[in-house]
Amino acid sequence: MTKLWNSVTVGRLTLPHRLAMAPMTRSRALPDGTPGELAPLYYAQRASLGLLISEGTQPSADGQGYLFTPGIYTEQQIAGWKAVADQVHAAGGYLYIQLMHVGRMSHPDNTPHHRQPLAPSAIAPGVQMFTATGMQDIPVPREMSLEDIQATIEEFRIAAAAAIRAGADGVEIHGANGYIIQQFIAENANTRTDQYGGSIENRARFGIEVAAAVAGEIGADRTGFRISPGMSLGGLDEGPDGPDLYRHLIAELANLNLAYLHVLHGGNDEFLREIRSAWPHALLVNRAGRPLEQIAADVDAGLADVAPIGAWALANPDFVERLKAEAPLNSGDVSTFFGGDSHGYTDYPTLAEQSVRES
Ligand SMILES: Cc1cc2nc3c(=O)[nH]c(=O)nc-3n(C[C@H](O)[C@H](O)[C@H](O)COP(=O)(O)O)c2cc1C
Repeated sequence: MTKLWNSVTVGRLTLPHRLAMAPMTRSRALPDGTPGELAPLYYAQRASLGLLISEGTQPSADGQGYLFTPGIYTEQQIAGWKAVADQVHAAGGYLYIQLMHVGRMSHPDNTPHHRQPLAPSAIAPGVQMFTATGMQDIPVPREMSLEDIQATIEEFRIAAAAAIRAGADGVEIHGANGYIIQQFIAENANTRTDQYGGSIENRARFGIEVAAAVAGEIGADRTGFRISPGMSLGGLDEGPDGPDLYRHLIAELANLNLAYLHVLHGGNDEFLREIRSAWPHALLVNRAGRPLEQIAADVDAGLADVAPIGAWALANPDFVERLKAEAPLNSGDVSTFFGGDSHGYTDYPTLAEQSVRES
């Protein structure tokens, strides 16, 4: 018998089951970074997933990398998120807003102030990014001063307070996928010689200080943290001491009593088992692209408390009901993942809607 349908405590929340919605950028915010007018409906449609982790949301103009991603640093943006939180709660779900600062994974054409992106060191990622005029090389970022680092930590803290003001149940700090926190971790993106570069402790310091600032502001039991150990997105190489760095990072985050750790898992089960025994709080494990029959595997094996669902949740607002009923799933349309209108966003049918259409 699967444990998937047992309830679980995550920070302040008691969740109805072990599924959740993984964070997914949809690039449908307004040009000023306010969540689009369909965002409340999109999230509320998926409320039966219990905990919904929002699309990556920039805590400041510097934090934006992609076009039409939402922010949470202006009053309009906060009001937009309030509409989302209200609808999600009315539908019985919970909302964590993912705070995503992209660091060097940005282009001046994509930010409101058009400034050079900030990063631990002045090293370009060596990849291209989509802009309004098509694909462009990502430029060399500006190396952050110690003042920039403190200001960025402060942006995370203020954004977390804004998320709570908007009615969110918590925030997830995005420490994964090649963005600013993982840029500090990775030795090929961080060649600093001060207290934020070099040793394991120094490269982990920025992420730990962000987590401490956010937890201090809104409560550790409303703070989650996402990591993707070993992943090379955005040209990152964590170096040979990467696993040891994560051992240190996880121990420090555990001391902060965060609500959860969210691992985007690349397949090293040995390391996952180690994380599981080192992490005393709720553990979320998202295995990219796993087959449907493996959805419950980590939860049933005791390796995870919660299994967040990405692309299937995007294409199936009633993923939970479909899984329970062993019903077929809608497949996601990749051409509408990023940007566009209601098509491929709020128009994926539920089982009930499908049977009405087919009758
Ligand atoms: C359209 C799309 C957008 C995504 N955007 C984000 C994001 O904003 N933040 C993040 O941490 N991960 C993001 N991801 C990664 C997902 O959270 C998840 O890790 C990935 O899709 C693998 O899980 P899955 O196989 O269940 O889809 C995105 C994935 C997709 C498909």
